[in-house]
Amino acid sequence: YPMKEPKEVDWTFAGPLGYYDKGQLQRGLKVYSEVCAACHSIKLVPFRMLGDLGYSDAQVKAFAANYEVQDGPNAAGDMYTRKAVPSDYFPSPFPNAEAAAASNNGAAPPDFSLIAKAREIERGFPKFIFDIFTQYQEGGPDYIYSLLTGYENPPAGTTVSQGQHYNPYFNAASVLAMPPPLSDGQVTYDDGTPGTVDQYAKDVASFLMWAAEPHLVDRKQTGFMVMVFLLIFTVLIYLTKRSVYARKE
Ligand code: HEM
Repeated sequence: YPMKEPKEVDWTFAGPLGYYDKGQLQRGLKVYSEVCAACHSIKLVPFRMLGDLGYSDAQVKAFAANYEVQDGPNAAGDMYTRKAVPSDYFPSPFPNAEAAAASNNGAAPPDFSLIAKAREIERGFPKFIFDIFTQYQEGGPDYIYSLLTGYENPPAGTTVSQGQHYNPYFNAASVLAMPPPLSDGQVTYDDGTPGTVDQYAKDVASFLMWAAEPHLVDRKQTGFMVMVFLLIFTVLIYLTKRSVYARKE
């Protein structure tokens, strides 16, 4: 258990009428690809999915073409690298977990494809009662946001070993191998949104929620329509019952 419970962020995708803000997802993609992708893979996400973020087919194609992927064997039996196309998946920064750990003081940066769900947290009583009604499922992005903005100087008397960093949102010991990845002004947004650590953290956490749950909003909309239908159906059943059991003189 982490020492500190994650901060609760007011996400657009929260609640029964939640939706993804495409502008925010595009900013999150920018933060991921310019900062996090140096260490963290997102290997279950194909480039073609980026159409969901509001990009045209041509834009997705151009984005994919910035990456190189391994392919082969070709007719001569050799592996080769080529430019990525939309049907390819985001290439990983390291060839395998051993290489990833070796470059990061022994701790491999986890893959991001499902991290927004993998790091979902259970909130004990009484919060989970409210969680049912508000359909709270933002524990993952709340945690990612809190972790990214939660680096602190260790309290007096606590020593943090070389290559470790103090962050009370991480685990009971509050130390992890990831250095604070974000700083103000690090990523330049195309839409004029100010480049602050707080904004980057929110945007990248939203992007990771989308990556883990691309159909979240469709599900919520279907669920909402089901509730509306059941409500109408209940009224109809009630009127039917009244009519069937009415005393006919
Ligand atoms: C772990 C997010 C950038 C290296 C993590 C974890 C998250 C995360 C959520 C998992 C914590 C857990 O297991 O509960 C991010 C985000 C980044 C980013 C959103 C970009 C904004 C980076 C960069 C590096 C890095 C640039 C390498 C320099 C690591 C390592 C771990 C880790 C080594 C494992 C830590 C440990 O187990 O001690 N990161 N990260 N991360 N990250 Fe990052």
